[in-house]
Amino acid sequence: MSDPIPVLTIDGPSGSGKGTISRLVAQRLGWHYLDSGALYRAVGVAAGWADLDLDDAGALVRCTFDTEIGFRESDAGELRVLVNGHDATDELRTETAGAAASAIAAIPEVRAALKDRQRAFRRPPGLVTDGRDMGTVIFPDAPYKVFLTASAAERAERRYKQLKDKGVSVTMDGLLREILARDARDASRTVAPLRPAEGAVHIDTTGLDIDAVVERVLAAVVPRPRTSVA
Ligand code: C5P
Repeated sequence: MSDPIPVLTIDGPSGSGKGTISRLVAQRLGWHYLDSGALYRAVGVAAGWADLDLDDAGALVRCTFDTEIGFRESDAGELRVLVNGHDATDELRTETAGAAASAIAAIPEVRAALKDRQRAFRRPPGLVTDGRDMGTVIFPDAPYKVFLTASAAERAERRYKQLKDKGVSVTMDGLLREILARDARDASRTVAPLRPAEGAVHIDTTGLDIDAVVERVLAAVVPRPRTSVA
């Protein structure tokens, strides 16, 4: 029997560096990459365009089924996200989209509706995927699992720098409050709460630079001994 397509899951709270690290690791391995948060953000953005109420679970579930989400690489090699055919990459990264995604992600039917869409990204030669429940729910059979963390203060600082570079004015206090609120919501929801998968390699990225984290993650991807079949 041929081996299943390998998957490396990288889960962790917002600001732990998952996105950057996962993209770099995927490049190094020559594997595909799935940013699962982008799917939740895309539904959040589509719900905003349709002026839906974030408390109306039924409308949000319908919106999840109706929203077309596509990924493509720009000429500059950047990953762009298309929502219903429109390039929504920049809108997806806003705090508003993140907060909407987090509220929507707590609805079990939304998570169920996105399950197969995420699994469809598992294609040869392999997949690196980041999110909150990649190792626990979406790819529980993944041979490689990592859980990234960083202190809340450092995560707020990273986000502050990113937003400042983009000319967005925010305060550190406000960002820290938002990060802690999102952590609490993601960790306490009843369906697929944020928690490390069994057997995941934990890496605390506080005080580490990107290259150091990439090397540690790559070290977690060591070939497994093959079980021989008689
Ligand atoms: O990772 P990112 O910040 O883009 O995710 C946005 C939100 O989407 C998270 O706060 C979380 O609530 C939700 N999410 C999730 N499960 C995933 C990925 C993201 O619940 N696998």
